Amino acid sequence: MADPNFSFLLILPLALLLLLLYFIFRPRPTTIPIKNRHVFITGGSSGIGLALAHLAASEGAKVSILALPFDKLEEAKNYIQLSTGIDVAVFAADVRDYDAVSKAFEAAGPIDVLVVNQGVFVGRELEKQGLDEVRFMVDVNLMGSFNVIKAALPGMKDRKDRGPGSIALMSSVAGQAGIYGYTAYSASKFGLRGLAEALQQEVIIDDIHVSLIFPSATDTPGHTKETKTRPQLINTIMETYGTMKAEEVAKKALDGIKSASFIVPCNFVGLLLSIATAGLSPQRSFIMAFVEVATAGIIRIIALGFQWNWYTYIHKWHGQNKGPKVLVA
Ligand SMILES: NC(=O)c1ccc[n+]([C@@H]2O[C@H](COP(=O)([O-])OP(=O)(O)OC[C@H]3O[C@@H](n4cnc5c(N)ncnc54)[C@H](OP(=O)(O)O)[C@@H]3O)[C@@H](O)[C@H]2O)c1
Repeated sequence: MADPNFSFLLILPLALLLLLLYFIFRPRPTTIPIKNRHVFITGGSSGIGLALAHLAASEGAKVSILALPFDKLEEAKNYIQLSTGIDVAVFAADVRDYDAVSKAFEAAGPIDVLVVNQGVFVGRELEKQGLDEVRFMVDVNLMGSFNVIKAALPGMKDRKDRGPGSIALMSSVAGQAGIYGYTAYSASKFGLRGLAEALQQEVIIDDIHVSLIFPSATDTPGHTKETKTRPQLINTIMETYGTMKAEEVAKKALDGIKSASFIVPCNFVGLLLSIATAGLSPQRSFIMAFVEVATAGIIRIIALGFQWNWYTYIHKWHGQNKGPKVLVA
């Protein structure tokens, strides 16, 4: 039988830790209803955004999507209407154009849930990447997100008696960890984290709740196009972690939005990365706050294991492709 003194010594600090965490964890939990509410999704004509629009419409939301002015918007609208019977409003605008985005929000009316999902990704080593490509990713992924949020925020703040609102940003695991070949993309997605953390503090008083979604590789038209041109080394590194379906990511994302989670991982690796990079981010779940504190050490060891794995690939790959000079670790 366990020594009662020993059990007491173990249980007391644990109880004190739980009490402390329960007292300090912020913001407090809340839920975001979706049914009969206006969900506006940028980049809703394809991939993850389209799957999310379809799912939100199936759950009874009034859905609007915004994307570049191509036929794909109409195709997306018809696809959702045929499979759910629900009409979707479409807005053609480039997120890099603030005036065009503002007009879309004026026409769309009050929004309850804004999903800033548009994104472009071109995997290439920085040395081989033109600054035009770097600027393209930063402009669409980061500046485009500022344009969308700036244009939508006044209307969202003015909503009257409509319950809690949400602003969700589509980041990426490349926004949690730098990944070979994604210097520009990672920078644009890491930028979203700073935006989201600061924005949550600014809008909490308006009952608006920010979510930051971290999908890993997902089978979408954008991903298919990208895998054809990105360096083979990225394929080798990413293949280890598998590819998710857009519908799976959409389900995780919508569940995260509904529970007002600040960090929304989409699979197990994403969950490990979320704990490893929790830093000073808000935490609405008391259980997750405890998991973060209790597993911090072991998760750091796992994170170092990831780095070991990636650097081993990089050295091997360069060894095979450039000769023995770069084999020195
Ligand atoms: N797929 C992945 O492996 C993966 C992994 C992690 C994170 N993500 C992120 O998830 C989000 C969606 O990616 P996805 O894979 O679904 O890509 P996708 O299939 O290429 O869809 C991207 C969407 O963004 C829209 N878009 C692109 N540039 C735009 C602009 N300048 N203005 C307005 N809309 C624009 C596209 O509109 P058009 O159709 O009109 O071009 C499309 O609707 C992105 O933020 C991406 O970074 C993707």
